[in-house]
Amino acid sequence: MSSAIHIEGLSKEYHRGKIRRGDIRSSLSSWWTGLGKKKEAFYALRDIDLDVQEGDVVGIVGPNGAGKSTLLKLLSRITFPTKGRITIHGTLSSMLEVGTGFHPELTGRENIFLNGSIIGMQREEIARKLDSIVDFSGLEAFLDTPVKHYSSGMYVRLAFSVASHLEPDILLIDEVLAVGDQDFRKKCMARLMNVSGQGRTILIVSHQMSYLRELCQKGIYLHQGQIQHQGQINETIQHYIQHFGQQKNISLQEREDRRGSGVVRLTHIEVTDTDGHSLPVVASGQEVVFTLRLNATKEEYDVRVQMEVYNMYGQMCFVANNTVSNHSLPNIRGEHKMQCTISRLPLNAGIYFVNLNIYASNKLADEIINVLELNVEPGMFYKTGNLPKANTGILVEYRWE
Ligand SMILES: Nc1ncnc2c1ncn2[C@@H]1O[C@H](COP(=O)(O)OP(=O)(O)O)[C@@H](O)[C@H]1O
Ligand SMILES: [Mg+2]
Repeated sequence: MSSAIHIEGLSKEYHRGKIRRGDIRSSLSSWWTGLGKKKEAFYALRDIDLDVQEGDVVGIVGPNGAGKSTLLKLLSRITFPTKGRITIHGTLSSMLEVGTGFHPELTGRENIFLNGSIIGMQREEIARKLDSIVDFSGLEAFLDTPVKHYSSGMYVRLAFSVASHLEPDILLIDEVLAVGDQDFRKKCMARLMNVSGQGRTILIVSHQMSYLRELCQKGIYLHQGQIQHQGQINETIQHYIQHFGQQKNISLQEREDRRGSGVVRLTHIEVTDTDGHSLPVVASGQEVVFTLRLNATKEEYDVRVQMEVYNMYGQMCFVANNTVSNHSLPNIRGEHKMQCTISRLPLNAGIYFVNLNIYASNKLADEIINVLELNVEPGMFYKTGNLPKANTGILVEYRWE
């Protein structure tokens, strides 16, 4: 067997506080961190060595912020290494986050041809595939519409159809199966099984362990920019879950995977009801209180706390920030308790992860990724006796007339 991807000593350094283009999640946090005007360098990936053999189907797992997307972006040359080398044998096509890979001004049809020609296919070859691509995507009515007018669901349909029907030697897929309805996801899975059966090399990032178990033979577990484990997929997932479970049991004081100066630190975080009773599980629409304790080592000014809630697929659902809501903290010193009450939790049933950042005088004081896991059960957000449908995004209040 020969090598499809060879990576040696790969590192990628980013700077916090730089304006990032592209996704909403990063613009939001860069807007916020931008208030600090401080550029702090850190490694999103550090000293990665990796060999992927031709025909391998590899699942990449790891918590939010582990560097999974960065790895795929480096492989598809959307961004470039700070250090190290990547050697790729064969043609490569990728479906990364919505917003990459297609030209917004071009129509769906034009983008199909463009993508095909990028991986070196002849026009006639692409034309021959066109029908099956369009058919799979279900977008025939929008084929001559510029993709900038597509919804994110339509975009993903097209991206998946293109990437899986054109015939690159290597296919990179980042999370995208998460977008779209259950039926389309099933169709994508079947399609991927088919493609992997043709001996193509596939790297797929997903939080859906069941998909990965079905699809992949091998796995890579990334954590804080480094490979924590690689091997057979089941074994890799086992490691990930174990480590994740352990991390959950580590008390906040013991967690060292933090960034920031430490002048103010989070010492406790918990979800409770309004009477202060701890809630291991919450329900959609329930009133919940996030109770935080901070410790400031000396007098600190202008302390800003931001809680970011992500779904299993790494998509940001909402942010609660004490500055936007005008609840600025006075100068604090020593222990300080804060509470953030959400009167109707707008989350559908599922598992969510919370990241927390604290800034003091415009400087990052503490950042903890996955500080809390939120287990949300179906609940009466709409108070109608009808439960919201699963996988339909965030819950909002509305009125039909
Ligand atoms: N363009 C960028 N500029 C600065 N920081 C970034 C950029 N892209 C990603 N990061 C940061 O790099 C780290 C790894 O991100 P990412 O690769 O997206 O992780 P994952 O996909 O595993 O959730 C995160 O801390 C993220 O905030
Ligand atoms: Mg990602």
